[in-house]
Amino acid sequence: MARKPIIAGNWKMNNNIAQTKALITDLIPLVADAKCDVVICTPYTSLATAVEMCKGTNIKVGAENVHWAEKGAFTGEISANMLVELGVEYAIVGHSERRTYFGETDKTVNQRVKAALAAGLKVILCVGETLEEREAGITAEVVRRQTKIAFTDVAKEDLENVVIAYEPVWAIGTGKTATAQDANDTIKIIRDLMAELYCPKCAENLVRIQYGGSMNAKNASELMAMPEIDGGLIGGASLKAEDFNKVVHF
Ligand code: PGA
Repeated sequence: MARKPIIAGNWKMNNNIAQTKALITDLIPLVADAKCDVVICTPYTSLATAVEMCKGTNIKVGAENVHWAEKGAFTGEISANMLVELGVEYAIVGHSERRTYFGETDKTVNQRVKAALAAGLKVILCVGETLEEREAGITAEVVRRQTKIAFTDVAKEDLENVVIAYEPVWAIGTGKTATAQDANDTIKIIRDLMAELYCPKCAENLVRIQYGGSMNAKNASELMAMPEIDGGLIGGASLKAEDFNKVVHF
């Protein structure tokens, strides 16, 4: 069974409502014939607009984070059920910017993954090493640890609802892309771990693993040609319809 490619935009803290409307209006006809799954992850404030505009199209909408509790005294947070109620289908969890600036840990990533899945969201789980970790030669160890903890108590039945995004931190927003071979090799390490944790067939057939980190209109086809790379999580290049469309049509 071939794994269906999935290209997701991560808008980060960009686009107000007017810009959201303009970008999605441009995007809908451009990506209508896409052969891959197409997702846009927007700030919370744009989600309702994005969901409304993408109804009846092939674009799915995601949030950029989700809290692990169902409700309660968590000022400033948003629960999985709140997202589901809006019509949101995906949530990014464990992005390196959350890990770096907002105290996200492997344990809280796991809590968020479980809560999102329990509510019926699909998860884009981010893992990836920093430059120091890469230079220290511990990339494999780091991504294996992050992935293993993120999947603690996640059932095999949920594997098709989690997309893993391998994003080397040093490649995010820097214009430095991992070489296609490097990205493929690390993604293979993650897939092998998933085979160990679940089963070889699950890892081969169900687990989709994206690359992310300065992926753009120019380098998407080379990255997507690699056998282990099933898609991309696109930051900067997802903010312009033409650029994102070129990645979607890798
Ligand atoms: P970038 O961001 O494409 O701008 O490097 C990717 C990401 O952070 O998901």
